Amino acid sequence: MKGLGRPKLHFTPPKGWMNDPNGLVYVDGIYHLFYQYHPFSTVWGPMHWGHAISRDLIHWIHLPIALEPDELGFIFSGSAVYDKDNTSGFGDEKKRPIVTIFTHHSNLGERQSVAWSLDYINFTKYIYNPIIENPGIRDFRDPKVFWYREKSCWCMVISAGDRVHFYRSNNLKSWDKTGEFGPEGNYAPGVWECPDLFPLKTSRGEEKWILIVSMGMSVDLGGSRTQYFIGNFDGERFICTEPARRIEWIDQGPDCYAGNTFNNIPDDRRIFIAWNMNWIYADKVPNNGYRGVMGFPRVLSLIETPIGLKLACDFIDALNRLKKEELVIQKSLELNTDTFYIEGVTDGRFTIQFVNDKDEVLTFGIDENNRFFVDRREAGISDFSEYFPNIYYAQRIFTDRCRFKALWDVYTLEILADNGTINMSVNAFPSKMYTRIVTEGNIDGKFYTLENIQRL
Ligand code: FRU
Repeated sequence: MKGLGRPKLHFTPPKGWMNDPNGLVYVDGIYHLFYQYHPFSTVWGPMHWGHAISRDLIHWIHLPIALEPDELGFIFSGSAVYDKDNTSGFGDEKKRPIVTIFTHHSNLGERQSVAWSLDYINFTKYIYNPIIENPGIRDFRDPKVFWYREKSCWCMVISAGDRVHFYRSNNLKSWDKTGEFGPEGNYAPGVWECPDLFPLKTSRGEEKWILIVSMGMSVDLGGSRTQYFIGNFDGERFICTEPARRIEWIDQGPDCYAGNTFNNIPDDRRIFIAWNMNWIYADKVPNNGYRGVMGFPRVLSLIETPIGLKLACDFIDALNRLKKEELVIQKSLELNTDTFYIEGVTDGRFTIQFVNDKDEVLTFGIDENNRFFVDRREAGISDFSEYFPNIYYAQRIFTDRCRFKALWDVYTLEILADNGTINMSVNAFPSKMYTRIVTEGNIDGKFYTLENIQRL
């Protein structure tokens, strides 16, 4: 990545290797982001939990490592809750704990453990870990725990090979299994990882539960992708009600994996952060002392479309507050920044290209088959993996005008279109900064420079 800086709006680790976001939780006005972290190398290794905090999900402060590997194993993915009623007993009258629930990974199998903190910086592992033994399933990990209001209990959804299991608890320490979901029906074949489960309201006010599952698939199926299911949950079991006959991805690009949502956000907004990467080349992408980038935080909603309910994404509103200079999109535009944002409306086919003086070009738009596409085949450095240079498509369900947003941040592109039903996260590594935007088609659009939020 020589010559290329760090993304300015996207979270990256101080050094070393980062994969999944973990333990997303909001407490007292602060968003906590933990993450799968190997601080001593730019490739995956003994996993720790890194930790950072933010008030706006954009400016992050790095904190000390929260969890280190120990005699029970590496610290794999998991979640964090704010135990406001001190159900766990880890807190006291004055201070309520943040409790992390994570997987201990070792050759004794994957087992679940907990740790807690009263200062929200230093974590203590529970002496009676693990709290859930391995049930004889090799891949049994990534517990997502949340408070289930209707029955005043904690619920857990956890990956178990090619399905998820559900558990419940009153104290975060002792857990009972209540059900399973999958793999019958319409699912992508792979290892199910990093599940999440949460309610959203339809525009008619009906509550639906969304189950998110990251699918670790073979290379020919795209490697790492995140599927979602819409259905009902009664605190014990999830029943899928749609989509009935199709697989729905949360993001149709190649670089959005292991995403999860924040616990404990008071106004019920569902904010989602993913790892903007794909396992099939994650440890090969150019690096300058660190590898791994998180996706820009997105707000999730449910929308009605001609083919049924769909999960939709939008960038968090804070992005709008970073807009600086505004320019009208034209046939050609000179660039003097490597972090910018585009908002546009088009009546159909169009292309936008980011170009540099080495003739490297990253292209996106709508093609003649009404598909949104991103083409990174000629976008820059790509010889590190045969799977990287590629073109990606997302079929539109609408045929009328298309409203889209595109956020480019040094080497990561995120496109949202058609009310957030099209989402594409695509990394590209130009060997020199893109210096020009070239457009074709009828685009009524604005280009924004963004405030420079310099990081490490
Ligand atoms: C997903 C994943 C998780 C696991 C973690 C290990 O990317 O494979 O299932 O807990 O990464 O780092």
